[in-house]
Amino acid sequence: MSEEIKNKFTPKKFVKNPIKGTKCTLMISSAKGGVGKSTFAVNLAFALQNIGKKVGILDADIYGPSLPKILGLNEKPKNEGGKFLVPLEKFGVQCISIGFLVDENTPMIWRGPMVISAIKTLTQKVLWKDLDFLIIDMPPGTGDSQLTFAQEIKVDGAIIISTPQDLALADVKRGIQMFDKTGIKILGLVDNMSFFKGDDGKIYNIFGEGGVQKTANEFKKEFLGKIPLNNKLRESADQGQPLTHKDPKNEISLIFENIAKKINSSFNKD
Ligand SMILES: Nc1ncnc2c1ncn2[C@@H]1O[C@H](COP(=O)(O)OP(=O)(O)O)[C@@H](O)[C@H]1O
Ligand SMILES: [Mg+2]
Repeated sequence: MSEEIKNKFTPKKFVKNPIKGTKCTLMISSAKGGVGKSTFAVNLAFALQNIGKKVGILDADIYGPSLPKILGLNEKPKNEGGKFLVPLEKFGVQCISIGFLVDENTPMIWRGPMVISAIKTLTQKVLWKDLDFLIIDMPPGTGDSQLTFAQEIKVDGAIIISTPQDLALADVKRGIQMFDKTGIKILGLVDNMSFFKGDDGKIYNIFGEGGVQKTANEFKKEFLGKIPLNNKLRESADQGQPLTHKDPKNEISLIFENIAKKINSSFNKD
C-alpha cells in the first residue's frame, strides 16, 4: 500500500485543545432537547459563584442559543485585535453565545462544517479571564457539535441531564456510551423536572419516578440530585434572572448549591 493510501486509512489522531483562561471545563449535556440543560447550566453557574468560584458559561447550542434570553443579554461582544472575542459579563459571570453575534430572530441555517467552525471560534477565540469553572451548555443529541467537543477540546467532565421519562432515558443511555467511548469523564446524572410539589405539599411524579437514579446505578455513574418541576425556576429564567442568583436561599437554589459543592469537591478545588 502506498504511504498516501495508508494515511487515508489510519484513524485521524485528534489533539485535544484546552480552553484557555479556565481551570476546569464542564459540559452540561443531554441526548434530548427540552429537558432543562440550559436552565440547569445557568443555575449551576450561579450556584458555583455563590460558593465563591469564578465562573463562565459557553452556550454551545448553535441552532438554539438560550443564554441571551435566560440572562437577558443582547449586547454584541467586543473583539480584541480583530481576532478574539471578549465575553459579556452578567451578575459577575462571563458568558458567550452565538446568540450575541446574530439577530435573535434569524434562524441559523448552517451546515455541519459551519457549526464546527463556530464551535472552534467559541472555544478557542474567547478571552475568558481567570475562571475556576467554564460551564458549557451543549445542544441536544450526539451530532457534529458533540463530536467536535469530544475529539478536539479538552473537557474535564460532563453532567448529563434527563427527565425521569422512559423516552428521555433511552437517549441518556446513548449519551453515556458516547462519553464513555470518547473518554470524557461523566461526573454524574441529574434528574430534572423530577416531581411537582403542589401547594398542599403533595408530590406528583409527572414524568415517572426513579428512572434517572436507576440509570445512574446501571451504568455505575454518580446520581447528583433531583430538581423539581417548579414555576419559579422557569419564571426566573424567562425574566433573565436565574433563581440561584436572585434567591440563593430558595429550597431549589439549595439543591443547586448541593450539586455545585459535589462538583467542586470532585475537583478538589477548596
Ligand atoms: N425544573 C424545571 N421546572 C420548570 N421548568 C423548567 C425546569 N427545567 C426547565 N424548565 C423549562 O423547560 C423549558 C426547556 O428548558 P431548557 O433549559 O431550555 O432545556 P434544554 O436546554 O434542554 O433544551 C424552558 O422553558 C425552561 O424554563
Ligand atoms: Mg438549551
